[in-house]
Amino acid sequence: MESLMRLLLIVSGSVALKKSFDLLNKLKINKRNIDCIVTRSGLSLIKSMKIEDFKNIKIYTDDMQLKDNNRMLHIELSRKADVVLVYPASANIIGKLSNGIADDLASTTLLASNKQIFICPAMNVEMWQHFSNQKNIAKLKKNGVNFIGPIYGNLMCGETGLGRIADSDLIADEINIFFSRKRLLSGMTGIVTAGPTIEPIDPVRYLSNYSSGRQGYSIAKVLAYMGANVKLISGPSNLMPPTNVDTINVLTAKEMNEAVFDHLPSDLAICAAAVSDFRFKNFSLEKIKKNNDKSFSLDTNPDILYNIGNSAQKRPKLVIGFAAETNRIKYFAKNKLSEKKCDWLLANKISKTDSVFGSEYNSIHFFTKKLYEKWPKMSKILIAKKLNNKILDFFE
Ligand code: C5P
Repeated sequence: MESLMRLLLIVSGSVALKKSFDLLNKLKINKRNIDCIVTRSGLSLIKSMKIEDFKNIKIYTDDMQLKDNNRMLHIELSRKADVVLVYPASANIIGKLSNGIADDLASTTLLASNKQIFICPAMNVEMWQHFSNQKNIAKLKKNGVNFIGPIYGNLMCGETGLGRIADSDLIADEINIFFSRKRLLSGMTGIVTAGPTIEPIDPVRYLSNYSSGRQGYSIAKVLAYMGANVKLISGPSNLMPPTNVDTINVLTAKEMNEAVFDHLPSDLAICAAAVSDFRFKNFSLEKIKKNNDKSFSLDTNPDILYNIGNSAQKRPKLVIGFAAETNRIKYFAKNKLSEKKCDWLLANKISKTDSVFGSEYNSIHFFTKKLYEKWPKMSKILIAKKLNNKILDFFE
């Protein structure tokens, strides 16, 4: 079903704008409900593209603002829109918004906007990592601007690194979720654990796993879209913490367990973290040498999900766990559901050829005490949305 929302698309000067039409086709929105501002540098790039691609979309440029000064286009366009999407976003436009610079139609409209802004950056890896760009982003995120991407990969400039625009499928999934959001979880509190934990053995080494944190971060993001007050308790992850989510960073399973219990009670807990089951019994203050004894003793870590599910005083109304399994998925999932006393369990298969860790996609076996569903492979943000629909039904 198409959204009734109105989108303001701001296209800045990055070669990634070639992909903007592909993105627009994936959004559940009628082209007539899209206004598009193109910056001067974006315009020169667009001229080399098939202009029919932008047919049915109203395009606004700096010239129009200059010609008709009385019209106050920046106010008109920002008020008409429900959502503002900057795609692709150059370091320049990010910098302008972050520092209150308004010297063209795009930057003036962004500054005048009173709507949710999504920014999809695309730039060279060094530009992305530049301290001044990172400072600008941190400021925008702190003030509620949402970022999607960038991702790691080959860049248009020929270099490789973080700076490639996120896949249009993933951006469309996220914007479509935002379009369809209902703030039905307003006033509710949720705890989400995400990422790996690390268990140190000496000052330079640790035991950990390949978890990226992406599934948990996506869940936290969608819960926040729905109005929930979310605490994301995360092990080390390279992902940007989601906007409007309170992120608490931890390293070890013990720290994660403590952080979770410090933030309980809550209405809902979702344990998506890949917690290390063991920790080293003896932490060596000195770096362990090659010729040392190679046997290490391990202690069992606290099982956070078990502790939450079995807590007499602090158990949330809804407790959800995950399980990554290499074999006998149903058997292990059902056991975990009852042992850890969680209400729902989302299991996924891990194999050598299809590692879910670090991927943007996942396929889920969903279990409750009474129900089993197989969810097809989809983006982790869509899994978060599907799970969220079930959460909404539960609390209705
Ligand atoms: O037992 P297993 O590690 O497979 O269980 C997976 C589920 O339990 C996940 O939801 C994970 O976040 C949670 N877990 C935990 N603390 C542990 C181990 C797992 O919360 N120490």
